[in-house]
Amino acid sequence: MTTTLPATAPPVTAPSAAQPTARSATALPTPHFVAPSELVRSGAPITPLAAADWDAAAADIAAIERLKRERDAVILAHNYMTEDIYHGVADITGDSLALAREAQTVSQSTIVLAGVHFMAETAKLLNPAKRVLIPDLRAGCSLASSITADDVRALRAANPGVPVVTYVNTSADVKAESDICCTSGNAVKVIESLGTDRVIMIPDQYLARNVAAQTGVEVIIWPGACEVHEQFTAAEVHQLRADNPGVAVLAHPECPPEVVAEADFAGSTAQMSDFVAGHRADRVALITECSMSANLAASHPEVEFIGMCRLCPHMKRITLAGIRRALETGTHEVTLDPAIAERARLAVERMLAVS
Ligand code: 13P
Ligand code: SF4
Repeated sequence: MTTTLPATAPPVTAPSAAQPTARSATALPTPHFVAPSELVRSGAPITPLAAADWDAAAADIAAIERLKRERDAVILAHNYMTEDIYHGVADITGDSLALAREAQTVSQSTIVLAGVHFMAETAKLLNPAKRVLIPDLRAGCSLASSITADDVRALRAANPGVPVVTYVNTSADVKAESDICCTSGNAVKVIESLGTDRVIMIPDQYLARNVAAQTGVEVIIWPGACEVHEQFTAAEVHQLRADNPGVAVLAHPECPPEVVAEADFAGSTAQMSDFVAGHRADRVALITECSMSANLAASHPEVEFIGMCRLCPHMKRITLAGIRRALETGTHEVTLDPAIAERARLAVERMLAVS
């Protein structure tokens, strides 16, 4: 795949023909249980969960709180978790970077990761002595399944001496082949910390292009994409602005560059959250996963949230009932090959040191 960038942007090169292309590579299947009609909430105002929904969740919430105490467990939840999890049972919430950081600080012996599989693996590799549970093993990620450790070795062979910067949305195997990890919140900082003219940035082609537009470093990309954020279009954002005058548009950097170009702000889920908390707009649209807006709408009743979102089918695998079952049965425990974990940990720790 070849990329054409505006003349002012720094060079971004696609892998050469000799290099492998992105493909489905891990055992984690991609669930497709959400009907396409439910994937878009466009233009509708986002309102917090109703009292009746909280009543329905009350028994599971009470059981989870009791189980957390009995099992010495803590729940780390990503910003894309549904409100019953995010506001009901989570002890710590955040973006991928915050969850990795916080995983190192918790005192409990069990971590329940309410998020997708790569997040649970990251918590485990930073905490080899702790038990890390993920409520549903099917909670994968299209980025993580787009690249293998063999692919990274082939990229290195084709680009000798060029450091490999790996998005945390990858398996531990892929992290183990990398020089350093990054998240959407620190990618520019991580790349510039290396002091090289070129980097290989895997596996999100859109994040890589958005980052390349902010740095003079040449970025060699891998053609992976987030199946959720790649669906947004610049035309949708145009229409959103026309329908909602004065709306502040905040886009996740996994969106295509033409979508990010239409936004007022681009950042990780935590950076979007900080934007809203800073009361920088009365009316916002978050170009990202739907639960992000729902969670912030509950915390910020003074802000109007315009629905312009998609659901991540992987994140939506994690439910309150699943978290309760994980605590009751101790499933599913995340295990890692110690040798792989050791190398992957180095790449994550290097990232944490420069963030
Ligand atoms: P953040 O690190 O911004 O929370 O993003 C994680 C993710 O999976 C976005 O799709
Ligand atoms: Fe992966 Fe995209 Fe889902 Fe995030 S939103 S977990 S990047 S598929």
